[in-house]
Amino acid sequence: MKKVCVVGVSGKLGQYMVQHALNRGYEVVGVCREKSVPKLDAFKQRITIIPGPTNDAQIIERAVTGCDGVLTVLVPWGANHYSSGTAQAVLDHAQPGARLIFSCGWHITLDGKDVYPRSLKVQEMVGRWIGRLTRVIDLDDQVEACNRIFASDARWTVVRGSDLEEGESQGLPVWSRHVGDPILASNMTRRIDYALFMVAALENDALIHEAPAIVGCLTPSALAHADKSDISA
Ligand SMILES: NC(=O)c1ccc[n+]([C@@H]2O[C@H](COP(=O)([O-])OP(=O)(O)OC[C@H]3O[C@@H](n4cnc5c(N)ncnc54)[C@H](OP(=O)(O)O)[C@@H]3O)[C@@H](O)[C@H]2O)c1
Repeated sequence: MKKVCVVGVSGKLGQYMVQHALNRGYEVVGVCREKSVPKLDAFKQRITIIPGPTNDAQIIERAVTGCDGVLTVLVPWGANHYSSGTAQAVLDHAQPGARLIFSCGWHITLDGKDVYPRSLKVQEMVGRWIGRLTRVIDLDDQVEACNRIFASDARWTVVRGSDLEEGESQGLPVWSRHVGDPILASNMTRRIDYALFMVAALENDALIHEAPAIVGCLTPSALAHADKSDISA
């Protein structure tokens, strides 16, 4: 892996991913909304920034050209299919064979076998209801984005984040295929480690066509079940 693109680079997850990618010696190109470019001042000498909406196919085509990997922050903002437009632009324009890593939440399911705690179901229902009412977020569009990714032949991984918190890195999160698996019960990951998992996935072919649900490696459920899991990142 030599050159990677971070789509949605100005957010918290995006900036952590930039740091991890630079630490690995990758050349980094980032895409973010024009008004958010100043958020990246700390990196401006070390990365190339392409300002523009992440669902703009021309912007994405420019940004991903020559990239071996693309890290995409999928966010369900607005009512204009921002998530699915972003995913589609990356799927359409990434170079053949590139590793494509996407972020989303536990509410996304690859095979329908996830078992959600009642609290998460309620949270999602409220999110959907508020989203429809305010048109500020569109969870269904993030679902549509992921369905398009799952249907694609590209070398994708969809990383499903638990609840997130700030704090110093604890190391690479552990993962499992299904929400409801005991190892995930703590439902908490440091955002910096979510980013670490996304960047590490670029070079982990075992994660191709997987939708790992992740949890912090030092959480109680991870510590209690890690040795019993047949899956580790
Ligand atoms: N937050 C959580 O608890 C949580 C839990 C599980 C999974 N996740 C997943 O983690 C990823 C990152 O989420 P995050 O909450 O940590 O946020 P984040 O990293 O701060 O990223 C938010 C992104 O949304 C963009 N954005 C904000 N308002 C926007 C708007 N009106 N129109 C277009 N783009 C807008 C931001 O761009 P600007 O810099 O331009 O504003 C930024 O790229 C997402 O894929 C999310 O599904 C989050």
